[in-house]
Amino acid sequence: MPEPISVLVAASEASPVAQTGGLAEVVGSLPQAFVELGLPSSVILPGYASAFDRGRFEDLGVDLTVPLGAEDVVGRLHRGRLRSGTPLYLIRCDRFFDRPGLYGEGRLTYPDNPERFAFFSRAVIEALPHVQPRPRIVMANDWQTGLIMPYLLEAEEDAPAGVFVIHNQGYLGLAPPSVVSDIGLPDRYYGVEGLEYYGQLSYLKAGIVYAKAVVAVSPSYAREIQTPEGGNGLDGVLRLYASKLHGIVNGVDYDLWNPAVDPHLAANYSAERPAGKKICKDALQTELSLPRSDRPLFGMVSRLTAQKGLTLIVEAAPELFRLGLDLVVLGTGEPWFEEQLTALSTAYPDQMRLALGYDAPLSHRIIAGSDFVLVPSIYEPCGLAQLYGLRYGAVPVVRAIGGLNDTVRDFAGQNPEGLWDNGFKFTQFQAGALVRAVRRAVELYGRRDDFAAMSVANMREDFSWGKSAQAYADLFQKLLAAD
Ligand code: ADP
Ligand code: GLC
Repeated sequence: MPEPISVLVAASEASPVAQTGGLAEVVGSLPQAFVELGLPSSVILPGYASAFDRGRFEDLGVDLTVPLGAEDVVGRLHRGRLRSGTPLYLIRCDRFFDRPGLYGEGRLTYPDNPERFAFFSRAVIEALPHVQPRPRIVMANDWQTGLIMPYLLEAEEDAPAGVFVIHNQGYLGLAPPSVVSDIGLPDRYYGVEGLEYYGQLSYLKAGIVYAKAVVAVSPSYAREIQTPEGGNGLDGVLRLYASKLHGIVNGVDYDLWNPAVDPHLAANYSAERPAGKKICKDALQTELSLPRSDRPLFGMVSRLTAQKGLTLIVEAAPELFRLGLDLVVLGTGEPWFEEQLTALSTAYPDQMRLALGYDAPLSHRIIAGSDFVLVPSIYEPCGLAQLYGLRYGAVPVVRAIGGLNDTVRDFAGQNPEGLWDNGFKFTQFQAGALVRAVRRAVELYGRRDDFAAMSVANMREDFSWGKSAQAYADLFQKLLAAD
């Protein structure tokens, strides 16, 4: 028997101890799928004060000393477990992580984020000898962990292979050149072929350039980031490294997202017994004091940032509401979007409700109570809302980009194999295109039997981690065989 491939997943978020978006759900659930494939896996995160509050962690008595400029900063290794039992390591360093936010507070981004995540990335390397079993792959995620890739190349000879996963090309992880002394890599890493990005340094670029393999979280997104429109200035670099770039779509943790057993719902339901869904819709209307109605209910659960296409909702609102639909939005994010959506919900008191804040139980009730989930993003690397919508019988209406394009098939009647398409797509980022897709969705809703057939068929689709985790495992295998 070959030695099993052990994996250490390094990230800045993992559900349930630290979460701002989908990255946390992936890091919180993919390692368990690795374990089920026979790959021993663990996760390592910065030791945020809030993470320590959300779990039980043992101090392993290991100091991790990281030189930052002229100073030595010491982190302390702790170990607990994720929900699934996967080991979760936290690197405690109160100077950097004993703060209310992960990356900032309100409008403020912590100005020392470049030092914070350089420290974390370097400390991960120092932690490697203490992780059992010894990792053969380190999978790093997004800019916060990008520096791990060059650090691995500088580590001792039998260091693990680095795989860098891009969940969001929109965040470059920029740092001023003055951080060079904190990063502490040899000079050759900082040129245009390395970390340099228009006079600054990009941690995301570090991840891309120095990884053994790069994964984007869907095949469409892997293509889009190689274009000037989607590359955020790094499309040339990604084209240069196209041969090591892969697209693997995310899966869903069906232990957490399963309407048949979901503890947050007014009633449980499934494809076999779908009746409870109507109870969830009634309960949601009551909870949010929306007038009880049989109108199609559209739900959105989202970070309120430009990426999510909220300007399109605001612009299209008069026409959307004229179609006779209700809209429920749950989100938190940039104040400007919160204000726009608040104004909208005031203007349509009978048809719209807005819940501001981060509320996981409510997000489950919204997806369960909605007939449709709306995801009109400008760009969407993978997207999870549409996958939850499918499982919960809320038909996705999405823009045809990134992972949305790869997981939603536009409704065009019954397709040749006799399988139903599973949602509605529009391509142009224009209010008119959104309205046309929503109109087609509302028309289908009017044909109750057809709508119910699609909703129930969607609940049977399988976006569990199995296939995607296997694609990662195959990639790890190939990398290690090539070494
Ligand atoms: P992104 O990572 O870009 O935010 P995804 O669709 O991948 O987008 O993941 C978003 C995840 O965060 C989903 O699980 C969604 O339900 C959750 N989420 C986003 N905003 C909120 C919120 N305000 N309350 C609860 N859950 C939220
Ligand atoms: C990012 C992307 C989102 C993706 C998530 C998990 O936050 O914006 O599309 O689903 O990461 O990979």
